[in-house]
Amino acid sequence: MPTIVNLDGQIVPPEGARISVFDHGFLFGDSVYEVIRTYRGIPFTCREHLARLERSAAGIGLTLPLSRAGFVGRIVETLRAAAVPEAYIRVVVTRGVGEIDIDPATCPRPSVLVLAKELRTHAPECYSKGVAAALCGIERTSRRATDPGIKSGNYLNSVLAIMEARRKGCYEGFMRNGEGHLTEGTTSNLFFVSGGRLHTPAPECGILLGITRAVVLDLADAAGTSCQEGFFTSDELLAADEAFLTSTTRGVMPIATIEGRRLRAPAPGPVTRQLMERFAAHLEEATTVRDLGEYLEIETGRK
Ligand code: PDD
Repeated sequence: MPTIVNLDGQIVPPEGARISVFDHGFLFGDSVYEVIRTYRGIPFTCREHLARLERSAAGIGLTLPLSRAGFVGRIVETLRAAAVPEAYIRVVVTRGVGEIDIDPATCPRPSVLVLAKELRTHAPECYSKGVAAALCGIERTSRRATDPGIKSGNYLNSVLAIMEARRKGCYEGFMRNGEGHLTEGTTSNLFFVSGGRLHTPAPECGILLGITRAVVLDLADAAGTSCQEGFFTSDELLAADEAFLTSTTRGVMPIATIEGRRLRAPAPGPVTRQLMERFAAHLEEATTVRDLGEYLEIETGRK
């Protein structure tokens, strides 16, 4: 099934989908985006993703050209055209076409791209045995530079980190900040368990506030497993009993090794396993909307 491309409100054939070479998203990575997925065909935590898109846009001084309901409409149109059981959805808003000059003042109109394609599932072993993770030498960009809390199209920091991780034969790479504190993965958030307690880097470390991270924090809280959001070193991670990563496309995925060293508990460890189960149960409970028609009515306030 090909990727469905919705460019500025028009569904265009993927081979004919073109962005201008003068678009600042292309020239300078001057754009914001979200990755959303469906469960049972319905976009999951879409409100939270669109709220983050709004915060990211505000963070780069970009006025979004669509309302929240406008984005939902585009997403539903694109999903209907995709007609896949479960979809990966990418919403990109670029600064738009302007002069070849980094100043966005010459870009009057942002471009809105919505892509939908069949969701790629991960190998079952990733969940039953865990994945290998690297500690990258490359640092996460500072919050005082390009803030990792802004989900912008400028992903070179993560591109370089994943290349480093893959050179080490690892699935994901985790980065530290300039102070040496753990931050996050190239496209995921990090959690670890020590002495029965859950830990995750605090927002102040310079991370994207993952939507899945927030769901997991709520689930842990509801289960009485408190999570410490703090400033942690790689030594603390290496000495952990368990670790896992979270992201939209992966949910909760256990980590088996860090820098080739096995964590104390075989992955998935007991706390990770419990959270994976709670996450799966939460998906069952949270996905109550019948179909995309009902979803659109709810999200655009017609129901
Ligand atoms: N990325 N940190 C970074 C740097 C990310 O790119 C992502 C997600 C996350 C996890 O956030 P969430 O739970 O909201 O997906 C953390 C998406 C999936 C991507 O770019 O593919």
